Amino acid sequence: MQYLGIDHIGIAVLDLEKATDTYGELLGFECTGEEVMVERGIKVRFFDTNNERIELLGALSDNSEISGFLNKRGEGVHHICLRVDNIHKAVTSLEKRGLKIVGGGIKKGAHGSLVAFIHPKETHGVLLELVELPADQS
Ligand code: CO
Repeated sequence: MQYLGIDHIGIAVLDLEKATDTYGELLGFECTGEEVMVERGIKVRFFDTNNERIELLGALSDNSEISGFLNKRGEGVHHICLRVDNIHKAVTSLEKRGLKIVGGGIKKGAHGSLVAFIHPKETHGVLLELVELPADQS
C-alpha cells in the first residue's frame, strides 16, 4: 500500500448552511461539490484550498455517524483523510499491524470513492480516513 498525500480535512459542523457561508463567502473558498450520504446520515460539502480540500460535514439526523462527535466535542476538526492507491490493500495491511478499522470496514464515500476510518484511540486522538478515489478522479 502507498499513501498519496492528504486528500482533505473533515470538519463537523452543526449548521451546514451557516458553515458554508463562513467557508465560502467569508473565507473565500470555492465550494466544489456536495453529496448526501443517507446511509451514513451525513451531507458533506467540499471546498477547494488550491491543494488539499476542506470537507464540511453536517448531520442529517440525530443518529448520524457524526452525532456522537458533535454531542461530545462540539464542532471542529473531525478527521484527516489520506489518499491511498488501493484501499483494500491498505486496510488489510493496517489490520495485520493490529490497527482497528472503525465501523466494520470499507464504505462508500463521496463521488464514487471508497473510504475506511482508523479509530482515534489507535492514532493518538485523530480519526484518520483513508480514501481511494475512482480511477477517473485520481
Ligand atoms: Co472525509
